[in-house]
Amino acid sequence: MNTHQDHKITVCTSCRHKGTQCRPGFELIENLRAALKVAGDAIPEDFAVSGVACMAGCDRPCTVAYHCSQKATYLFGDIDPNEDIDDLVAFAEHYSEMQDGWCSSVDRPGKLRTSTLARVPSAMIATQSSMARAS
Ligand code: FES
Repeated sequence: MNTHQDHKITVCTSCRHKGTQCRPGFELIENLRAALKVAGDAIPEDFAVSGVACMAGCDRPCTVAYHCSQKATYLFGDIDPNEDIDDLVAFAEHYSEMQDGWCSSVDRPGKLRTSTLARVPSAMIATQSSMARAS
């Protein structure tokens, strides 16, 4: 188990279901918080779940991000507030166990294999890579 304590899941609250005015982000936040609570100790780290207005993935609603200060950040799209909760919880467990948060698509559960919009290395890893290239 690692020592990170700042695991976060951020959900877009501005995304609309395609062709409707419905904004499913708030429902997704509620469903995800409830599912994480049920999962309890199966997930080694606590995740703060919050909302934000738009993460620039507007063509792929709903968007959900996983982030932690020393881990890679992920942005997923096409997330349904009911159908995809199990995959989001499974990824929370996997993400909390990874040291640097970096994983390939085959290691992500269900829809998250194909709905990844971005995978960004942690700032610390990116800095180390830049320094290695410069030397
Ligand atoms: S409105 Fe949700 S990502 Fe832009």
